[in-house]
Order: sequence, then structure tokens, then C-alpha cells
Amino acid sequence: MISTLMVCLGNICRSPLAHGILESKLPSDKFYVDSAGTANYHVGDSPDHRSIAVARANGINISHQRGRQFKVSDFDTFDHIFVMDQSNFENVIKLARNTHDSSKVKLILEVDPHIKDKHVPDPYYGTIKDFEHVYSLLDNACNIISKNLINN
Ligand code: 4NP
Repeated sequence: MISTLMVCLGNICRSPLAHGILESKLPSDKFYVDSAGTANYHVGDSPDHRSIAVARANGINISHQRGRQFKVSDFDTFDHIFVMDQSNFENVIKLARNTHDSSKVKLILEVDPHIKDKHVPDPYYGTIKDFEHVYSLLDNACNIISKNLINN
């Protein structure tokens, strides 16, 4: 089983989308996908209703997901840890115990060399358009990630 964790700040807007999108592109018998937030504000919460709506409009159900906080043992559980922005990156790297842990952490948009701005913008204070933009950035990145995972 290859395990991938998607991480953002609250685990209600961006990482639940990345989690649902990647999961939809991989066979579940060989690949495990989860998500977490670096903060504890939304532990136990459903994804933001706008993330649920944008996912649903694209045929993906993320409504059963529940927020949880990133924990040090996630470095043991997961092979790959994708973060949404630089702030998430720094918050996760701070918890790494060694270079084996830190080598697992990457900005998700780094998988696409054609994308200049490597940060998935936080849509929390934005509009549904901002969530649609996040969806398209993550769908593109997850197409690349799923191909890489399946071919490795
Ligand atoms: P996310 O968005 O990190 O993409 O889940 C946020 C959700 C909640 C908050 C910030 C960002 N918050 O401050 O509660």
C-alpha cells in the first residue's frame, strides 16, 4: 500500500479537495489517501460547504471526511506528504525528526514544472470562484501525482 497525505492549515477547504480528487484517480486496493491540517481549529468538522459543492459538481463526494490535525506519527504512516503552501510546508517541516521525515514533504504544485506560482491559495475568506480555482489547480496536480504513483 502506498500512502499519500494532503495537508493544509484547517483541513476543511484545500486538503479535503486534494484528498478526494487524488483518491478518485487511484485504485483503492493499492493506494491510501488521507488529509490533515496543521492547525486544530476544525478537528472533527466536515469540509467547508463550498469545497463539498465544488467536489460534488465534479462527481466527487467528500462530505464524509472529517478534519484532523497533522501529527508526528504521520511521517511514519505516509510515504508522501503534499502541502498546499509555504506556511504549511514550514509547519510540517518543524515537526520532522530527521531528513527521512523531511524528505517526504513537498509543495503539491511542485509536481508540475509548468506552474510558476507554487502555492495553492487559501480560499477560506474567498468566494465559490476561489474554490473552483483551487479545484482546477489540484485536479491538474493530482493527474500528475496519480500517474507518477501508478508508474512507480
Ligand atoms: P484550509 O482553509 O487550510 O484550506 O482548510 C482554511 C480553513 C480554515 C481556516 C483557515 C484556512 N481558519 O482560520 O479557520
